[in-house]
Amino acid sequence: MTDEKVALGISGSPSPASSSRGLVEQALTLLSGRGWETGLIDLSALPADALLARGEDPAVSKALDRVAHAHILVIGTPVYRATYTALLKTIFDLMPQDHLAGKVAVLIATGAIAEHMLAIDHGLRPLVASLAGVTASNGIYATPGDFTDGAPGEALAQRLANAIDEALRLAG
Ligand SMILES: Cc1cc2nc3c(=O)[nH]c(=O)nc-3n(C[C@H](O)[C@H](O)[C@H](O)COP(=O)(O)O)c2cc1C
Repeated sequence: MTDEKVALGISGSPSPASSSRGLVEQALTLLSGRGWETGLIDLSALPADALLARGEDPAVSKALDRVAHAHILVIGTPVYRATYTALLKTIFDLMPQDHLAGKVAVLIATGAIAEHMLAIDHGLRPLVASLAGVTASNGIYATPGDFTDGAPGEALAQRLANAIDEALRLAG
């Protein structure tokens, strides 16, 4: 498979049973069903010192390399203090200028309250743009009411499918 069909998830939740990571995984499953090679970077599993630029670590270098070779990114985070987590931000702070040029990102955030949905447009979208990436306009924001027994409800699943369709169109 060529680099043009690689989709990579990036999860910025420290939680072992993460709702946002679950949505990233569902998005990757949809992309896999459309013939894309998929993978996931779980930032909570990477060494913190290297993520904080206190030193280098092969696992973090490899993660950055995987981002460089992906064409679609699925970025997921819980909302912490009205924006993405510090954990998510670490990997973006390690990327060189324009590292996301030519890539399309699907943005996913989960939060406790609906009022913080703007974390997608005020936080995640400019984060990707600062590295020259393009984002699908269909951002996915979900609160506990969007899930049934831990699984995305019908409306949320449909929003996810719409976002993936858009990302595929943008990826051309
Ligand atoms: C430190 C901390 C800060 C949080 N801040 C917010 C917040 O500002 N707004 C909000 O809607 N939810 C907030 N939450 C709730 C999480 O966003 C919510 O539980 C989310 O669904 C967790 O996602 P995860 O399961 O992927 O980790 C916070 C949770 C924690 C632990």
